[in-house]
Amino acid sequence: MYTTDTIFQDLPGANGFYGQSILKVAQFDRDHLTYVMALGERMRDVVKQQGGLDILKHRVMTALFYEPSTRTSASFIAAMERLGGSVIPITQGVQFSSVSKGETLEDTVRTLAQYADSIVLRHPEIGSAQKAAAALTRYNVPLINAGDGAGEHPTQALLDLFTIYDELGTLDGITISMVGDLRFGRTVHSLTQLLLGYNVKFRFVSPEILRMPLSITNMVRGAGKDYEETYSVQDVIGDTDVLYVTRVQKERFSDLEQYEELKHFYVVDETLMQQAKEKMVVMHPLPRVGEITDRVDDDPRAAYFRQVRNGLYVRMALLAAVLTER
Ligand code: NCD
Repeated sequence: MYTTDTIFQDLPGANGFYGQSILKVAQFDRDHLTYVMALGERMRDVVKQQGGLDILKHRVMTALFYEPSTRTSASFIAAMERLGGSVIPITQGVQFSSVSKGETLEDTVRTLAQYADSIVLRHPEIGSAQKAAAALTRYNVPLINAGDGAGEHPTQALLDLFTIYDELGTLDGITISMVGDLRFGRTVHSLTQLLLGYNVKFRFVSPEILRMPLSITNMVRGAGKDYEETYSVQDVIGDTDVLYVTRVQKERFSDLEQYEELKHFYVVDETLMQQAKEKMVVMHPLPRVGEITDRVDDDPRAAYFRQVRNGLYVRMALLAAVLTER
């Protein structure tokens, strides 16, 4: 059993995020990651053994979602509530609110900062989280980026890291193959950067027009990492430890015909799984729209629903880190 006193006791690493906005993975050094991962593991025990813990009692979080979301918003809400806090959800209603009256993003978050202790933001534009956080400097209300267009999705990358560690017991020496829409998929942008601090080999598997942006591959090269780009999943499957599958991001295409051509470029099925290592893990940020067949779900290597659950623990850890002085 953890109590409000013991939950933070003797954690390895360093918090460093009290009162800070979480905008991009570059903010996390190895010590921060150690801290968040260890606190995430404790949060898992908290949920399993006692359901929750009142460390964020009377704290309020606003979930401001300008793009559809099921997992990310639900897991942030669940995380806040399991820690005794409460949530102002602004999701489906965004189109009816002052946002649709033409209010700027800056004014919207400044207003919400008067009610809440933190704001979780998802927005379709790259850089929007940075912009919103800059508008909040005077109010001491940290903002958490829950996805800014095709930019970053730092909390997803943290839960991905947690999942890899949990499934394989290590990050060092692994080969991760990212498959699908590497151009518009923000989760792979964040995860790649986060993994640069570890001894990881990268395989980027995509059709030509959905290749990983140069800004990211340049970072990978600059960090001296082993990486390859290919369009063929067959090329990499036999050496892969983590198969990270993504959805083709329909909402980022101006030409829907092109989307239709690409949407089922890769399908992970039982035949492909037969060529994979016995100890591989299959991950996906979800939602999936045909990239992994349902029959793969019964394979013990299919980790995507465990990955979803880990999102709860990691977001509990992040909210605790941001809102509690330790
Ligand atoms: C991802 C996202 O929104 O970027 N979903 C999520 O947060 N779990 C991936 C996606 O939408 O394809």
